[in-house]
Amino acid sequence: MNGFIFDLDGVIVDTAKYHYQAWKQLANKIGVEFSLEQNEQLKGVSRVDSLKKILHWGQKTISGEEFMALMTEKNDQYLGLIETMNEDEVLPDVSKVLNYLSKKHQKIALGSASKNAVGILNKVNLTPFFDAIIDGNQVTHAKPDPEVFLNAAKQINIQPEQCVVFEDAVAGIQAANAANMVSIGIGDAHVLHEADYVFKDFTEMSLEFIDKLINPKTVCN
Ligand code: BG6
Ligand code: MG
Repeated sequence: MNGFIFDLDGVIVDTAKYHYQAWKQLANKIGVEFSLEQNEQLKGVSRVDSLKKILHWGQKTISGEEFMALMTEKNDQYLGLIETMNEDEVLPDVSKVLNYLSKKHQKIALGSASKNAVGILNKVNLTPFFDAIIDGNQVTHAKPDPEVFLNAAKQINIQPEQCVVFEDAVAGIQAANAANMVSIGIGDAHVLHEADYVFKDFTEMSLEFIDKLINPKTVCN
C-alpha cells in the first residue's frame, strides 16, 4: 500500500483565482501594485508569509496590529468569494483519480497550507476520500519545509519513500522532494521543473501511470 498526498489549492480546486482577487484588492487598498506574476510566487505560501511578501514588494512597514487586521480582512474577502463554491469547481478528473486510488485501497491524505482546507473539502463533497487531513492549522513550518507532508505520511502510517505528492506550487514540490517523496507537478512543466513528473492537469494522467505509482517496481521498467 502507498500513500497519495494531495495539495488542495490549485490541485483539487481552482481557488488560486480567489486568493489572487482577495490579495489584489487588499494590496491595491494599501497602495501596493500586485500582478499575476507576483501571485504565482504566493502559491503554496502561507497567509502570513504572503502578506509579508506583499508588504516587502510595496516597501511598506506596518504595526503588528495592522498586520493582523489585514490578514483578517483578506481572509474575510476570500471566504466571501468561495462561499457558494460547490463540487462543480473540482478540477477535471480529480474525482476520477480519487475514486481509482480508493478502489485500489491506497491511503489518501491532504497536505495543504490553507487554514480553510476542511471547509473547502466539505463544500466540494470530497472529505470522505481522505484518511488524513493536514492543513495550515497543524503545521509550524510552511512549505518548502517538508513538515506538512511528513505529518500526513505519519497520520496514514506510510513511510515517506512510499508516498506520492500532487502539487501545483514550486514550494510544494520542494517540500515533497525534501520529504523524500515522489513529487508530481500539476501545472506548467517549466515552472515545476524540480518535480519528478509534471502533468498539465489530471486529464493528462493515465490510469496506467497511476498503477505504476501504486506499484513503483514497474516505474523503473
Ligand atoms: C495555499 C495557497 O494552499 O494556502 C496560498 O496556495 C494560500 O495561496 C495558503 O495563501 C494559505 O491559505 P489560507 O486559506 O489559510 O489563507
Ligand atoms: Mg497549491
